[in-house]
Amino acid sequence: MPNAPPLRLAPSLLSADFADLAQAIRAAEAGGADSFHLDVMDGHFVPNLSFGPALVAAVRARTRLPLDIHLMIDDPLRYVEAFHRAGGNTLVFHVESSSEPDAVIRAVKRLGAAVGAAIRPATPFSRIEPWVDRLDQVLVMSVEPGFSGQKFLPEVLPKVRAARARLAKDGRAADVSIDGGVTPETAVPAAEAGASFFVCGHSVFGGGPVAENLRRLRIAVEEGARRAVR
Ligand code: DX5
Ligand code: ZN
Repeated sequence: MPNAPPLRLAPSLLSADFADLAQAIRAAEAGGADSFHLDVMDGHFVPNLSFGPALVAAVRARTRLPLDIHLMIDDPLRYVEAFHRAGGNTLVFHVESSSEPDAVIRAVKRLGAAVGAAIRPATPFSRIEPWVDRLDQVLVMSVEPGFSGQKFLPEVLPKVRAARARLAKDGRAADVSIDGGVTPETAVPAAEAGASFFVCGHSVFGGGPVAENLRRLRIAVEEGARRAVR
């Protein structure tokens, strides 16, 4: 696909053993992870609670890979600076949050970080479209945000296609990220639809050797991308 960015696997540490994150990070790096995805939850925007900037800083101290911070919080504008300072490379906010997208995008760019915007499964692509030309990443949620280990919702794939088509029309190679229920089975249609960045929680850390799990995911995304160009 012209202007398609490289395919990248981003293990989500939400599914790892929080008491042994250093080992999870080492295993994922050894298995060829391209980035780490960190899910920040505030108990308001989503029902669950996870962690804040202190944990991001602890992860930053253990890896050189880029850190992708998924802010599932009510007021991302208030926290982007703290998460950037903690070591986040890409700050991803939800368009359904109470912060004004334009203000968040400007704030993140001023910090010199990359910016992503996310949509829940029920949010149409049109809600994010006005901002696409200023984003480094469009994140399409393929489960309801809040928990790892849920089942992939294939009905979101048309939004992946729409995002990739819009970026291609603009001649831009920004990432389209798919997050939730990504497995070696579901990664194939997601890559075929144009996803380039694959957030994987349970399918990496939910059982079995991490390196083997990543290898199977890599084969799947490459197969999906091959189908897309056919
Ligand atoms: C869900 C999070 C996801 C989650 C993915 O709210 O945004 O990043 O950790 O986990 P899996 O891959 O298990 O669905
Ligand atoms: Zn996430």
